[in-house]
Amino acid sequence: MRYPREIIEEVRLQNDIVEVISQYVPLKQKGGSYFGLCPFHNEKTPSFSVNSEKQFYYCFGCGAAGNVFGFLMEMENCDFPEALKKLADRAHVSLPEPEKSAQAMVAEQLKARLFEIHTVAGRFYHDILQSDEGAAARSYMKERKLKPNITRKFGLGFAPERRNVLLEHLKEKGYSINDMLQSGLVIENKDKNGYHDRFRGRLMFPIFDPQGRVVGFGGRIMGKGEPKYLNSPETILFSKSRNLYGLNFAKAARKKELILVEGYMDMISLYQAGFHNVVAALGTAFNQEHARTLKKFAEDIILLYDSDEAGTNAALRAIPVLTSNGFRVRVTQVPDGKDPDDFIKENGALAFSKLLINAVHYISFEIACIRRNYNLDNPEHKVRFATEAADILSKLDNAIERNVYASEVSRMTGVEEGAIRSEIDKRVKKVDDAFQKEAEKRRQMNQKASSVGGHREKGLMEAQRSILYFSASEQKVYEKLVSVLDKEDFTEDLYYRVFQTIGQLWGEVGNVFPAELVSYFENTAEQKPVTEVFAIQLPAQSKEDLQKAMNEAVKLLKRTKIDKLTATATTVEELQGLVEAKRMLDSLYITI
Ligand code: CTP
Ligand code: MN
Repeated sequence: MRYPREIIEEVRLQNDIVEVISQYVPLKQKGGSYFGLCPFHNEKTPSFSVNSEKQFYYCFGCGAAGNVFGFLMEMENCDFPEALKKLADRAHVSLPEPEKSAQAMVAEQLKARLFEIHTVAGRFYHDILQSDEGAAARSYMKERKLKPNITRKFGLGFAPERRNVLLEHLKEKGYSINDMLQSGLVIENKDKNGYHDRFRGRLMFPIFDPQGRVVGFGGRIMGKGEPKYLNSPETILFSKSRNLYGLNFAKAARKKELILVEGYMDMISLYQAGFHNVVAALGTAFNQEHARTLKKFAEDIILLYDSDEAGTNAALRAIPVLTSNGFRVRVTQVPDGKDPDDFIKENGALAFSKLLINAVHYISFEIACIRRNYNLDNPEHKVRFATEAADILSKLDNAIERNVYASEVSRMTGVEEGAIRSEIDKRVKKVDDAFQKEAEKRRQMNQKASSVGGHREKGLMEAQRSILYFSASEQKVYEKLVSVLDKEDFTEDLYYRVFQTIGQLWGEVGNVFPAELVSYFENTAEQKPVTEVFAIQLPAQSKEDLQKAMNEAVKLLKRTKIDKLTATATTVEELQGLVEAKRMLDSLYITI
């Protein structure tokens, strides 16, 4: 997908990076730059800087860097065209129809057809639910206390037992078998003599993406039977490990706090009772991808998993995934091994609110979980429990939190608070020491590496970066450099492409603005090193010093290339040529 360069640059110029980033990260001005807490890693003191003049961001802590497009791509987890679209909308710039490659066009059309198929299928199943054929499903839903308005809102439906009703319906609408297969809603017969519907005799839950488009289905068997739920397979539109059920609705609730439950029915039933900030992971363990998806919508999570053993273990596993992504996590459970759906239907919304209010800090939950393994009347158990609790508490970053929960453990066991605290401190210290030792080891290893080989490697990268920096500063300088350097002089293909792009900009635009240059590199993995070339201000230098530095950089690259070729040369002529090249190098000196 390609937009004309001028448009991309127009959008970039209309979106001041400081203003855009301020919408996500509070920034404070310090000199020419703005500082804030880096949104891309966990930190307590600001090392994230935004340079208004250069229109870059750069994090001294984690090295994240880029221009306004890169920031949005990272922050919104989107690709370049999406970032461009968002920023264009923000600045009221209208985008022309993008020029697309034929292949991208085919892929996009397929995706559009798959979206259509899902919409058609959703409507089809929904209509059947309302028809005579849906009578049994309707009474099942009634039994489960699902109200008609919720059925409509969630687009619930019914897939009848007949083998290929959906297939026939889609065929009538003109979709090919291949598209149907790609949608995952139709599958090939076992003996490969035809095709049939994936979902049969099931209550159908459309699964929406965060934008509210149907991307898959979950089908529940009515009554007993296996599997209880059948989901769409992984397709171009749908991935179980990324999608969260109900996020499109929860998002609209615009709350910074989300309730995370285990099942579709829990989500729907809470929604029906008026709790709209609920999402469910689709029958898979809550993972990093889920966490990243949620990060855009919430800061606080209330974990509300089933109170059976499986649910408790799943909650214990979800906690570190959430906390390591910076969420504040509290946990609550419904009593007696029930699930939230049962609870709310038996006890009502008010009782449920109380459960939410009584949600506890995840550490309390973890401690309560291990508590069950011990009999605190037994002194030996008491010691083991308090020791295990100290282990858990030592993992808390916040010393105040450690103290608060230490006194909780003290109350539970009757063990003196001071004793528990000193066990915790011992463990914290041990981890700190181990960390220091590891850091020291790494430092020494790095030193060693850079004194052999690594040193040269670093110098080479540095040389290429300064060549790019100089090339972008003045056209005259670029022209001198391009007359002596060629592709083989660069050890990094990316740097060579930057060098070419600089040339292109001098030729076509007449100036090189680094933030514009960066948007020529559309994935963030490339934008970062490109930004780094320009993000760090070189100290002011005299013209002579600059000239000297530039020549050193050029010579280092050329010498390295010649050495490499010498090592692999196979003929005398080749070697003679290289010796000659090396001699020429001595007399090479560029002036600016
Ligand atoms: N699940 C699944 N496949 C199964 C069982 C469960 O994909 N065979 C997923 C579904 O997403 C389900 C979630 O795991 O919503 C939780 O499972 P469970 O607690 O068994 O289902 P409930 O939500 O309680 O469903 P119901 O109330 O309809 O029994
Ligand atoms: Mn249930």
